[in-house]
Amino acid sequence: MKTLILFSTRDGQTREIAHYLASELQEQGVDADVMNLNRTQEITWQAYDRVVIGASIRYGHFHPALDRFVKKHAATLSSMPGAFYSVNLVARKPEKRTPQTNSYTRKFLLNSPWQPQLCAVFAGALRYPRYRWYDRFMIRLIMKMTGGETDTRKEVVYTDWQQVTGFAREIAQLNGN
Ligand SMILES: Cc1cc2nc3c(=O)[nH]c(=O)nc-3n(C[C@H](O)[C@H](O)[C@H](O)COP(=O)(O)O)c2cc1C
Repeated sequence: MKTLILFSTRDGQTREIAHYLASELQEQGVDADVMNLNRTQEITWQAYDRVVIGASIRYGHFHPALDRFVKKHAATLSSMPGAFYSVNLVARKPEKRTPQTNSYTRKFLLNSPWQPQLCAVFAGALRYPRYRWYDRFMIRLIMKMTGGETDTRKEVVYTDWQQVTGFAREIAQLNGN
């Protein structure tokens, strides 16, 4: 049996974390498939005994496809051990990096018909040169207001990979109880 890791990404960081989780799980003898949640058609749920969903934040919201997916598959998701992780830049501040202190994650869990056994919040990446001018302008404004990086030539990855490794260990221990 395998672990299914689904991700919803805009700029790739959540996908990178999904693949990192998969390779960490592999090291612990746990097979994992990684899939884009926005592009999956049919999922062979019987092939999996655990599910992980990861999603990023843009302008205060997860991609609407996340809610749609969770609603559509709520019964299946709830029937197996599951984990959720969110990726955002507010989480670059350690005190905003828990499901309780990260407002996007708290809100998701509050409204979700799926209640995963495990949940983590990871800091994402800030990649100014890759953004369109409007996004670059807006993100810089937010960074300025919150004391973050404002040099638009920079690409900064805030993800704490050790935290991701720790999450992979917890996922490997997940069972149906
Ligand atoms: C246009 C844009 C809007 C964003 N809005 C937010 C936001 O409202 N709150 C936040 O914490 N992070 C915000 N971020 C940061 C992203 O969540 C972060 O870059 C993350 O790594 C993106 O993950 P992804 O590459 O998987 O989409 C924003 C990033 C961009 C480019």
